[in-house]
Amino acid sequence: MKSSCSSSVGKKKSFDGFFHPQSIAVIGASNNTTKIGFQILHNLIAGGFPGKIYPINPRGKEIHGKKVYKSVKDVPGDIDLAVVTVPAQQVIQAMRECAEKGIKNAAIITSGFGEVGNHKDEDEIKRIADENEIAVLGPNILGLLYMPAKLNASFGPVELLPGKIAFISQSGALAIALMGWTVMEKIGLSSLCSLGNKVDVDEKDLIGYFNSDPNVDVILIYMEGLKDGREFLATEIRKPVIVLKVGRSSRGAKAAASHTGSLAGSDGVYNAVFKQMGILRASSFSEAFGWARAFSLPAPKGNNNVIITNGGGIGVAATDECEAAGIGLLEDLPWLESKFRSTMPDFGSTKNPIDITGQGGVQGYRDAVKIALSEDKIDGVFVLYCETAMTDPLEIAKAAAEEYDASGRKKPLAVALVGGEDSRRALQLLNERKIPAYSEVKDVVSSFKILREWKKNQDRPRDGDVQYEPPNEAVSYIDTIRKEGRTILMEHEARKVLEMCGVPMPKWGFARSLDEAKKQAEGMYPLAMKIASPEIIHKSDVGGVVLNIGSREELESKYNEMMARIKKLMPGANLLGVNIVQMVSGIECIAGMSQDPQFGPVVMFGLGGVLVEALKDVSFRIAPFGEKEAERLMAEIKAKNILDGFRGIHADKAGLIKVLCAIQKLSAIVKEVDINPLITNNNGTFAADARIVL
Ligand code: ACO
Repeated sequence: MKSSCSSSVGKKKSFDGFFHPQSIAVIGASNNTTKIGFQILHNLIAGGFPGKIYPINPRGKEIHGKKVYKSVKDVPGDIDLAVVTVPAQQVIQAMRECAEKGIKNAAIITSGFGEVGNHKDEDEIKRIADENEIAVLGPNILGLLYMPAKLNASFGPVELLPGKIAFISQSGALAIALMGWTVMEKIGLSSLCSLGNKVDVDEKDLIGYFNSDPNVDVILIYMEGLKDGREFLATEIRKPVIVLKVGRSSRGAKAAASHTGSLAGSDGVYNAVFKQMGILRASSFSEAFGWARAFSLPAPKGNNNVIITNGGGIGVAATDECEAAGIGLLEDLPWLESKFRSTMPDFGSTKNPIDITGQGGVQGYRDAVKIALSEDKIDGVFVLYCETAMTDPLEIAKAAAEEYDASGRKKPLAVALVGGEDSRRALQLLNERKIPAYSEVKDVVSSFKILREWKKNQDRPRDGDVQYEPPNEAVSYIDTIRKEGRTILMEHEARKVLEMCGVPMPKWGFARSLDEAKKQAEGMYPLAMKIASPEIIHKSDVGGVVLNIGSREELESKYNEMMARIKKLMPGANLLGVNIVQMVSGIECIAGMSQDPQFGPVVMFGLGGVLVEALKDVSFRIAPFGEKEAERLMAEIKAKNILDGFRGIHADKAGLIKVLCAIQKLSAIVKEVDINPLITNNNGTFAADARIVL
């Protein structure tokens, strides 16, 4: 397999030296058993790496019975991978020597670079790497392991168990900790790569590599942050990618001037990125590895599942979890009775959960599992077990595994074993046999949920290439405002710009005087009247908004009252006139756009109105995206049922989608857009208010 990535200087770098090296140099290999340079050499040898291993140390002689070279340049043959474990001050020299030797892959274990503010040396490493087409992992890493090549170039404490999960970790310490944990839980990994400071190789590169690695079925990433959000967003996701992203703070969002800006925050944006890419986001390590194990199962064909249990309680708990997760349970009760009655005592239940009762032993489980696996009507099987003194969980686990293997593993089967030490051993046995097993009912249901979610992600309708350009008239209109030194558009200006982009408005007008207002208001009642002044940002604070004006007379009196009030409150303000906007009622939504420092323009949609920041029922997407992604975005909010119809009012979904696409035309020329409320009803969608920040 050949695979490569593009470096920042446009040259191609190969990754084969990381995963399929024929020869490895350990620069800084040591005879001193307390040193990392010793441990890495030891792990390489103990792991059974079949290729050549060259210890490099200026002292020469032998380490671990292997001839030591004073420099990589002295090694007679080619070197595919250099593992660098010399102190930080020596790393650049070591990299120069790697370049001279023509080494194309380096894993730099050494700490003491960007993480402690030493960016200068890190930049130099990157420069040498790019100039010489060296792909670099690290610095500040634990190393890497790749089980198919018997490669353990790490100072991790244990060998991994072989499997098909590739684990990529930004943190080395966590990777070490989880190595031991996966071994204890009998979870097999194909690879473990520590990324550290990511001077060169990062998540997107490794996803790209593992995309076409037959030894990897699922990619699990522990992520703290990304160096280049837009590049990551462009990564092709061909296999299930599960991310545990930590750091959910929303610092930085506070300074934003609009609702959209303040609601975006970094975590909401990361959520959007993962959803947009079809990446699965886990919230804990056990969830992430629990999901990863589920991908050893075949995808479910349908959603008719059965629960086989010996306990009513866990059966009900699983039923609840299934309902919450959208996992269907087969409901054909006569059919279930005809098939499963023989597997249980008289007092058992076939009503799915199939409860073979506490008296149901190994044979009962075996029979029920066999039937469930052989019947086409059933798409997936949950096997639940509560430990009793009557049964040996290990025997039940073995029976389930045997039946599953005998059936040819054509449908998903997962197991939850609730109990003590014996159940734990049974759980490990199942994991070893690549049957996902858990000690909690919610986790077993979650394993099916994630299989369905991945399938849905893969089948999701996708937009082709979408690009948005701002209309020329909007560009020159905004330029004029910019030249005046203003950064916040007045409402009528924002309305004009949004209209130019195709955002639908209720009837509205901008009036410089009462007479103009009265003329424009004909046929518009009831209407809202709002002050227009460049000095007044928060109109309501100065009584600059009056709603539901029902007549010409009311307009006149409210206009005069408003002007008098504001002149008194803000004598210096330049009162240009008023906006009058026809009142529309319907479902109040919010649509907006803000700029994220990592990912650029981000579009928000959610339930709007005055409670928007309290409810926070909003979701995001990174621009540009098209109508299909806009539809997914809309379907993500908690109140999505309201959009489908509430008290006789239906959302105009096509209109909402149009708005979500239209505002993207401004993504290159404005900082924030806020349409709140964006009112939608049976007749259409209308921007009831508008705000644009430059
Ligand atoms: N070429 C080859 N060998 C060299 C060179 C060179 N240019 N310079 C020094 N060496 C040898 C040394 O002589 C020594 O060998 P010796 O034991 O025979 O004398 C060996 O390389 C190591 O050098 P030391 O100076 O002894 O350095 P030490 O082993 O104490 O530390 C290390 C080096 C491990 C790279 C350290 O600087 C470091 O960065 N430690 C942190 C590593 C780490 O934690 N990484 C992140 C992992 S993730 C996590 O958080 C767990």
